[in-house]
Amino acid sequence: MSLAYRFFLAGILFAIAGMSLGTYMGSTHDFTFAPVHAHINLVGWTTFFLFGLYYRGDEISAGSMLGEAHFVCALLGGVFLPVGIVGAVTGNASLDLAIIPGTLLTLASMVLFLAVVARAWSRQRSDTRTRFAKAI
Ligand code: HEM
Repeated sequence: MSLAYRFFLAGILFAIAGMSLGTYMGSTHDFTFAPVHAHINLVGWTTFFLFGLYYRGDEISAGSMLGEAHFVCALLGGVFLPVGIVGAVTGNASLDLAIIPGTLLTLASMVLFLAVVARAWSRQRSDTRTRFAKAI
């Protein structure tokens, strides 16, 4: 499966998990897990869907090792971060530890995405220069 569709699929699974938790919170009027719900939906669904859209339009980056590393970091971060927040809101010290890899992996995934976009931008600039040089 292409990188873009892996991001879409993971994002949809995050959305289903986040919305189910939101539905549970709404029906029980217990909002303890509101920050968990927010992070599953925003770091999981929204961010993954945006990454998927990007890679659907940039096939070179989608086939790169940097893109693969970005996906693995984002996926692990997207799972560990809400688990860590569950630990924080319930006071479970073992689950709370997941905050550390969750935070670092999520942050690292965005830094990798910066590298992906910077490489694509420099590729586009050198392509434009080559075409311009050939034209004159
Ligand atoms: C079936 C869909 C959803 C349901 C049933 C739902 C339900 C809820 C509920 C019950 C709350 C707590 C409100 C309160 O504290 O008074 C909440 C908070 C929130 N939701 Fe959702 N939600 C859904 C989808 C989404 C989506 C798609 C996003 C973002 C992409 C989102 C982002 C948030 C945020 C940022 C908060 C605030 C969290 C906080 O105060 O810590 N929700 N939602």
